[in-house]
Amino acid sequence: MFANMMNWIDARFPASKMWREHLSEYYAPKNFNFWYFFGSLALFLLVLQIVTGIFLTMNYKPDAEMAFASVEYIMRDVQWGWLIRYLHSTGASAFFIVIYLHMFRGLMYGSYKQPRELVWIFGMLIYVALMAEAFMGYLLPWGQMSYWGAQVIISLFGAVPFVGESLALWIRGDFVVADATLNRFFAFHVIAIPLVLVALVVMHIIALHEVGSNNPDGVEIKKYKDENGKPLDGIPFHPYYTVKDIVGLIVFLFLFSLVVFYMPEGGGWFLEDANFVPADPLKTPEHIVPVWYFTPFYAILRAVPSIAGSSFPGVAAMGLAIVMLFLLPWLDRSPVRSVRYRGPYFRIALAVFVVTFVMLGFLGTQPATPTYTVMSQVFTILYFAFFILMPFYTKYDKDKPVPDRVTDQ
Ligand code: HEM
Repeated sequence: MFANMMNWIDARFPASKMWREHLSEYYAPKNFNFWYFFGSLALFLLVLQIVTGIFLTMNYKPDAEMAFASVEYIMRDVQWGWLIRYLHSTGASAFFIVIYLHMFRGLMYGSYKQPRELVWIFGMLIYVALMAEAFMGYLLPWGQMSYWGAQVIISLFGAVPFVGESLALWIRGDFVVADATLNRFFAFHVIAIPLVLVALVVMHIIALHEVGSNNPDGVEIKKYKDENGKPLDGIPFHPYYTVKDIVGLIVFLFLFSLVVFYMPEGGGWFLEDANFVPADPLKTPEHIVPVWYFTPFYAILRAVPSIAGSSFPGVAAMGLAIVMLFLLPWLDRSPVRSVRYRGPYFRIALAVFVVTFVMLGFLGTQPATPTYTVMSQVFTILYFAFFILMPFYTKYDKDKPVPDRVTDQ
């Protein structure tokens, strides 16, 4: 009966063909390690955010007079409302942790290099959309940090020469962050950006399956095939990696549950203290700090000095910091992909880059004292140096010989 039903469907919709192409006959390298869990975990978190978001929307009121109270109502009176909200708020931070690790894997194994440039570019577009999604979502609870965070970030657009002020006014829909801003951010957060995200993720995976996955050795598994044309170093994604990814998911859910149930505010990192106070346009909080996943870029923004009272250079540097990541496939001139066979220059540069990114993240959470400002400036220079010097240190690096086949290490 099942076979008959599948035949009926397949004659009308390529269900079995898609299953074969993307799962049972998608040959993935056999040497994936734990770094390859983060793609499927990102997919899981995308679904979790959408599902919990739908349920939050059923009781949330996108109205400046009611938003804060409606969130409290969800937390106290809606059955399981506290869990839905904490899954969503903790899910946002977990999403960024997973995405940063996923991106770092790409960096380590040279997964952005030819022929996977578009996999990387779609990934970067996802990253930018995800930042917009998180930023707009943070305004919705209408707490003090929601309000003032949005005020600060939208005002940055005011620094753009000539059109800045009109641009900021156009984004806000008012002279300060207000009800109109909340309404449009709600529209973007619940429907516009999620649609874009889902579309981009589909393109990300189609592009990946077109060229095939990279792996920790950075060797091309399509080079050696058996008599049936299957890569010798490949195994079918299903059942091998579907089962392996479930192991990753269980470990992730264990850690995620610890946070959701025992420390949902993440010590003020995932939900900031000031956001438990309703938004007050007449009272600025002492420290306005973005959520942790934005702070590396916030530190770059503050590190660059204003010119003639305009903070445009800082804003431009922040934008450029993201543009640099897009350019990675063309900045890296090494013939070797994986860090395993790269020379010392790349290894040192990558290690310094990791420290730099973490330090910028930390500095972005701190008040801009003179010492911290100098440190931010040093790390901002190091951040850009990683990219700008990349064509040189990757070209002249003393890379090691790359094996022909995966090494199963
Ligand atoms: C919603 C966000 C995202 C989802 C759901 C997602 C999903 C996936 C999945 C399922 C894979 C295959 C499994 C794996 O290799 O881990 C993958 C691979 C990849 N992703 Fe993503 N991704 C996302 C964001 C990103 C971002 C932000 C980047 C980088 C800017 C990126 C870059 C890559 C690269 C380069 C690969 C190929 C890795 C390799 O073959 O070694 N992804 N992604």
